[in-house]
Amino acid sequence: METLIKEESLNNDLNIKIIQYNEGFQKSEVLRIFYEAFEQKITAFIKSKEKAISIYEKSLNTDRIILAVEDKKITGMAGLHYDDKNFTDINYDTLKRYYSPLKSFFMYWGLRLMTPKVQKETVRIDSIAVDKSCRGRGIGTKLIEAVIEFARQNSYGQVLLEVVDTNPKAKVLYERMGFKVKKKVNFYFLTRSAGFSSEYIMVYDIPVNSK
Ligand SMILES: CC(C)(COP(=O)(O)OP(=O)(O)OC[C@H]1O[C@@H](n2cnc3c(N)ncnc32)[C@H](O)[C@@H]1OP(=O)(O)O)[C@@H](O)C(=O)NCCC(=O)NCCS
Repeated sequence: METLIKEESLNNDLNIKIIQYNEGFQKSEVLRIFYEAFEQKITAFIKSKEKAISIYEKSLNTDRIILAVEDKKITGMAGLHYDDKNFTDINYDTLKRYYSPLKSFFMYWGLRLMTPKVQKETVRIDSIAVDKSCRGRGIGTKLIEAVIEFARQNSYGQVLLEVVDTNPKAKVLYERMGFKVKKKVNFYFLTRSAGFSSEYIMVYDIPVNSK
């Protein structure tokens, strides 16, 4: 995913490019869209917005981020996880700048345990978010299509994502795009403060003859 992975028009009045993140864009703008979409989940783990943004800013692997861009403005983002590298990698030293060593230790391990291992043949969409004012216009669909295309072109066997039980609209979108529920994972009360109690692991299998 070194260069542009997709560029196309959605319709006459909307000209969306799907590209890999590059230095021409502000990390803070990517993080604004990410934070607004996942605020409840993030707040359950890092209470202060400023701290959260600052920690994520130091922890982004930008080679794992694709953007939807309209007139140089970011309208959506997808953070990918493949080949043992996720789009965010919050390490102990970063946490220690903000928290005590003990708290940092528990946060670091909590995060590690919550991040699933990704198999070699899999591209995992860790996070996908479209700017609030731009939702429902096909941008999320285009981002996911671009990820599927990236996986296909690079001979991965599947694209995987998780969707929480309290986000049925997103689940319908993924089903419409050909993702199938592989497993339901129950967290019961453990994730209540993050706004959900279970998640579906969904997979899009890439047909062997299309790679
Ligand atoms: C889910 C999300 C990425 C979809 O992006 P999008 O650009 O709105 O999606 P599209 O326009 O391609 O598709 C729209 C479909 O997405 C679904 N959808 C899910 N959440 C939606 C939302 N908040 N607003 C509008 N559509 C939403 C709808 O079912 C809609 O289907 P419809 O066209 O039949 O009504 C985006 O809505 C978003 O950022 N939501 C908040 C963060 C989130 O939930 N991320 C997914 C975590 S698994």
